[in-house]
Amino acid sequence: MKDEEIEKPSAMKVRQGIQDAITYSLPDKKFSEKNIDLVEIDIELENLGWNFNNYRILNLTDIHLGQWINPEYLDDLIDYVNALNIDLITLTGDYFSYVIDCYLDSLKKSFKKLKAPDGKFGVLGNHDHWMGAQKVRDIFKASDVVDLSNDVVTLKKGKDRLNLAGVDSSTVCADDLDKVIEKLPQNIPTILLAHEPDFAKQSSQTNKFDLQISGHSHGGQFIIPKFETTPFRGPNSTKFPVGIYKVGNMIQYTSKGLGTNSFRIRINCKPEITIITLKTTKKQKILIE
Ligand SMILES: [Fe+2]
Repeated sequence: MKDEEIEKPSAMKVRQGIQDAITYSLPDKKFSEKNIDLVEIDIELENLGWNFNNYRILNLTDIHLGQWINPEYLDDLIDYVNALNIDLITLTGDYFSYVIDCYLDSLKKSFKKLKAPDGKFGVLGNHDHWMGAQKVRDIFKASDVVDLSNDVVTLKKGKDRLNLAGVDSSTVCADDLDKVIEKLPQNIPTILLAHEPDFAKQSSQTNKFDLQISGHSHGGQFIIPKFETTPFRGPNSTKFPVGIYKVGNMIQYTSKGLGTNSFRIRINCKPEITIITLKTTKKQKILIE
């Protein structure tokens, strides 16, 4: 889909004006690990080979660079991430909000600095399409992030395999699940990156995916204490707005994300970095001589 074919929301300039007013009227946020929710979860995958047992995937999403998160904050956050012991990084979209050109170099520099032994893989969010998908794809290319928009890679460790797939943003109708399934090697555990969490309704029905990782909702920017959910649910995050869900045979994980969009406020809903540790349910054969 070409950038000019994307349907954009109305009043983009008004939205940006509101954001600028809020951003510039508040002091700059400085990165501090104390203000980050480092969520570590174990996810069991059926048929996961033992070589991928304890495999650690770190997900970053919804940076919305230029609002809550400025280039210095992002740079410090990347240093923090690089010091964590992980295998692979996934990025699930909305790197920008309503401005892009003045932040292109900052995002490129930060993504270039981001390091993981098995690489970096990303999809785009609705805001990236509204701002210019090709510009984001160019950043991916320049910073060695593999673009998984409607695409699949198969990771290999010894005799074991793990599919990592991605769909493009469903908000702008750029998703093409048929294309993903066509490319998908069969009978291999599969993780899907999808910016919008409610895409799980479609992806789970195919029975082709074991886990979907998403962002988009920002956890509603408000989590009800004790209930661990949010009343603020925007389009495409009404069903699975925050945390972990079982959808059919698939697990859906929705991150609270890092940045904010229109309102620079988060209540009981810290910015999130997610580490998913994969666990196999297979029994290991122990040979006793
Ligand atoms: Fe989004």
